Amino acid sequence: MKELSFPNINIKDLARWTGDVSPLECIGIKDETHNVKSFTFKSKKDAWFQFYPGQHTTLFLNIDGKEVMRTYTIASSPTRPNTITITNKRMIDGVVTNWMHDSLKVGDCVDALDIGGSFSVALDKPRSKILLLSGGSGITPMLSMTRYFIDLTIDSDIVFIHSAQSEKDLIAKDELDYYQSSHNNFKRYYVCDIASDEWHGPTGFLSTNMLMELVPDFADREVYCCGPEPYMQNVKKILKSSDYDMNLYHQESFDIESSTAQKNMAMDVNLPEHKVTESEINEYNVTLSKSGEVLPCGSNTSILVSIQKQGITVPFACSQGLCGTCRTKMLEGTVEMDAQGGLLKSHEKEGYILTCCSYPTSDIVLDL
Ligand code: FES
Repeated sequence: MKELSFPNINIKDLARWTGDVSPLECIGIKDETHNVKSFTFKSKKDAWFQFYPGQHTTLFLNIDGKEVMRTYTIASSPTRPNTITITNKRMIDGVVTNWMHDSLKVGDCVDALDIGGSFSVALDKPRSKILLLSGGSGITPMLSMTRYFIDLTIDSDIVFIHSAQSEKDLIAKDELDYYQSSHNNFKRYYVCDIASDEWHGPTGFLSTNMLMELVPDFADREVYCCGPEPYMQNVKKILKSSDYDMNLYHQESFDIESSTAQKNMAMDVNLPEHKVTESEINEYNVTLSKSGEVLPCGSNTSILVSIQKQGITVPFACSQGLCGTCRTKMLEGTVEMDAQGGLLKSHEKEGYILTCCSYPTSDIVLDL
């Protein structure tokens, strides 16, 4: 008979999980919809996970002999710190996601990067009335935040509107229905793009009228939004046309699913140009302390590009200083960094840089 194991839930006796030191073991796989699965992982070394609801991690996998990586938002809540859950949708050309759906088994181990990202209600001081808006698999950070609110019984008034293609694409519907039925301060609405005989709720794309009807007091609410880029653009258009105070609007600053790194491991991505005049361009050395490699890098070239030019695989996702996936500790040297919110101030103080938007102003040494 199989012996049961009961994990230690006394966090003070456990180490905190740090990515790339302790692999993740898949301990559960659940079908969410016809093309969405949730994968639950625990640390191979029984560490616990500390993160903010809405943050993401990057998995490193070896698929058919090729090293690949993908960034996924964590759908579980940090209030359940012994595991993390990644919920993802099978895609036509989704190499990693499809591999996870087809080949990842309970008991398999994967490597992952430290958890990061700046999209989280817990990093802001939001109003007590909150509106969560998500489209498709953009639901994952909202699930993490909702579970966090519910677990901690946070005294806030939450309305959650989730848009999906059809009723059969609604993720975690039973769970959200349960929260609505058991919590006075939580309301959820679903919007389906396609009308069907089974679907009696709102249909079509989110519109100003629909928003006014579902959430008449939306102007008083802090808004958190995540979904495909067109979805987030539409939400912003609706809010702006309603004179909503955009200082209260927060969105996942990049579309994780269609970000450069999800499709392309190579360096031929369009990185934003760093402005330096011809006369200012200097050549510096970038030393990778763990491998001892020394790479040339011009002061007008991002450190990420200079590393990728050598055929070295390092984590990145948005390539624009937004997501924090390329965060790396700089042990020596100086850089100019065009970060766009992807680095927490505390990490900057600890010496971390975002390699995708950092340009050397001296020789540098990285903890890589
Ligand atoms: S890859 Fe997103 S911040 Fe660098």
